[in-house]
Amino acid sequence: MSSTQSRYHEVYARWKADPEGFWAEAARGIDWIRPAGTVFDPKAGIYGRWFTDAVCNTCHNAVDRHVAQRGEQAAIIYDSPVTGTKRAVTYAELQDEVATLAAVLRDMGVEKGDRVVIYMPMIPEAAFAMLACARIGAIHSVVFGGFAPKELATRIDDAKPKAILSASCGIEGARVLAYKPLLDEAITLSASKPESCLIYQRPQCEASLVEGRDRDWQSETARARREGRRAECVPVAATDPLYVLYTSGTTGKPKGVVRDNGGYMVALKWSMEYFFGVKPGEVFWAASDVGWVVGHSYIVYGPLLHGCTAILYEGKPVGTPDAGAYWRVIADHGVVTLFTAPTAFRAIKKEDPNADLLKRYDLSSFRALFLAGERADPDTVKWAEDILNVPVIDHWWQTETGWPVAGNLLGLGALPVKHGSPTVAVPGYELDVLDESGKSVGRGKMGTIVAKLPLPPGCLPTLWNADQRFRESYLSVYPGYYNTSDAGYIDEDGYVWVMGRTDDIINVAGHRLSTGGMEEVLASHPAVAECAVIGVKDSLKGEVPCGFVVLKSGVQKAPEEIEKELVGLVREKIGPVAAFKLAITVPRLPKTRSGKILRGTMKKIADGEEWTTPATIDDPIILEEIGEALRARGVTG
Ligand code: COA
Ligand code: AMP
Repeated sequence: MSSTQSRYHEVYARWKADPEGFWAEAARGIDWIRPAGTVFDPKAGIYGRWFTDAVCNTCHNAVDRHVAQRGEQAAIIYDSPVTGTKRAVTYAELQDEVATLAAVLRDMGVEKGDRVVIYMPMIPEAAFAMLACARIGAIHSVVFGGFAPKELATRIDDAKPKAILSASCGIEGARVLAYKPLLDEAITLSASKPESCLIYQRPQCEASLVEGRDRDWQSETARARREGRRAECVPVAATDPLYVLYTSGTTGKPKGVVRDNGGYMVALKWSMEYFFGVKPGEVFWAASDVGWVVGHSYIVYGPLLHGCTAILYEGKPVGTPDAGAYWRVIADHGVVTLFTAPTAFRAIKKEDPNADLLKRYDLSSFRALFLAGERADPDTVKWAEDILNVPVIDHWWQTETGWPVAGNLLGLGALPVKHGSPTVAVPGYELDVLDESGKSVGRGKMGTIVAKLPLPPGCLPTLWNADQRFRESYLSVYPGYYNTSDAGYIDEDGYVWVMGRTDDIINVAGHRLSTGGMEEVLASHPAVAECAVIGVKDSLKGEVPCGFVVLKSGVQKAPEEIEKELVGLVREKIGPVAAFKLAITVPRLPKTRSGKILRGTMKKIADGEEWTTPATIDDPIILEEIGEALRARGVTG
């Protein structure tokens, strides 16, 4: 489709001319208990707040409001190849499930404003849990199942939840992973103890309950249902937090991204129609996990706010059972739009390069593929376009923003695609690229991508209990702008090119991780004198971490043994999701004369890219040693 057929430029200009009018109109898509008198208050919060005097309930908008019109339509389809289960939950059933679970939360003493941690696998009950919290104004904080107890404990200590909702186990491919022992360990490690836990027992692995603290999910909900107890939707301020979602920061301490109710609903509802081009009643599938922002915005809230059917998929793109799994789900449920990370497509391509398995399925319902979470490499995009013959749309956003910052807005008519670029700024975001002194670099030049304040509805107003960290992390470096910490450029046509992070964050299989956090773990090993972790290119996961360690003098143990311990230590402290499999002992680390480790140069060496010896390096031979050590371990150097 050519740009002349797209309404993008007209809509973007309309937003820019009158942002408040634009968002006031979008807000009409939401049911308000009290609509906003003030659309944006520049004096409220840290950089202003949206819909400050409005009152609403997100669960009502995602569930109850649809029951009259589409009560018998599937709200959620749970498709779990790992357990051989398919289950459709209608909007009417969802209302019953959520209202009942909300009553159980009330029994557990959970009230408006209380935090509830959710540590669950990809089962419908995870979505029920989120919505039940939203229903009574409790603030949920979902923690991804691939994190280790220590990471869970850090989040518990920060959020201080009154209750924790969990399940007996998760299922990863063919493996059953007991979650409950991990939860018990996390609670032991944390200083802030929840009053109670509600545990969903899965038949694959029964968990034992701690007396006085743990309750059985199924018996509690059955009892509430028998007694006819349901909790109704509680009015909350549009600016009240709906959830806190922790994401990697530049230290081992994750950032608690706060999401409000009103602005988030407005932005998501708008994005479903105008970004994704989806209509109420259609089937929308985000193949992610409820533990990530994609799961919050586009497995649960976005599709449900829009009256779509959301797919909740417990499986992988490959191996459950094969590389045709995604095509099977699309065909079985009439999916119109799939959203996943490029890594999933790299995994499929690796197993089935000619997409032979695709021929077995009828994909006539399928209209578009959306990719995000990491840079969509042109090869993967082209491959997906060739095999699927539908638009493949790269879009860029972050946990902090909650919805796309740049992308090709299918709902407004797509612009021509440039492979490797997530296309243009979404209405709501005025993007620029700045140099280190904060000056705009102009078109085509690399720098840090920033968004002019205020951020649109849906984006984070602050970090949980950490206003100062919010200011320092995002607003102080470039006054008047939100610093995305992504490097890139904007070309002559206004297309955004996102090339990598400016901080220590790496992207492993679409999962965001801090190398600083991994360095903290390596440094805690008694044999390690100093260390550096970098992300090295990986053909499947995009990037994988690689740790370099210098051992303390006098250490007797063999380096190989210590390296094995270090791999185990990162898995134990951060979790399997870190995919930390490579620790390399080196005699010393390359540093500048002022003592700064040259991580950037090390990364170039590891990725086989051209590199030059920095003028400030202490001793250039050390870089040669790094190259040799990498080659010895089979990493291109
Ligand atoms: N609970 C417990 N452990 C989990 C987990 C969960 N919810 N999710 C992942 N893990 C574990 C995995 O089992 C694996 O452990 P292992 O080292 O013992 O094998 C480890 O964490 C790494 O997981 P993952 O990054 O998913 O790698 P993988 O090799 O199992 O699969 C892909 C690779 C590409 C197939 C997979 O990452 C994928 O499907 N990614 C695309 C979709 C996506 O998740 N996107 C997220 C953002 S949109
Ligand atoms: P997360 O907060 O986990 O969603 O990760 C956000 C980070 O992932 C961004 O800051 C980018 O570095 C990266 N990212 C996400 N989507 C894209 C994309 N489409 N292109 C390039 N990088 C992306």
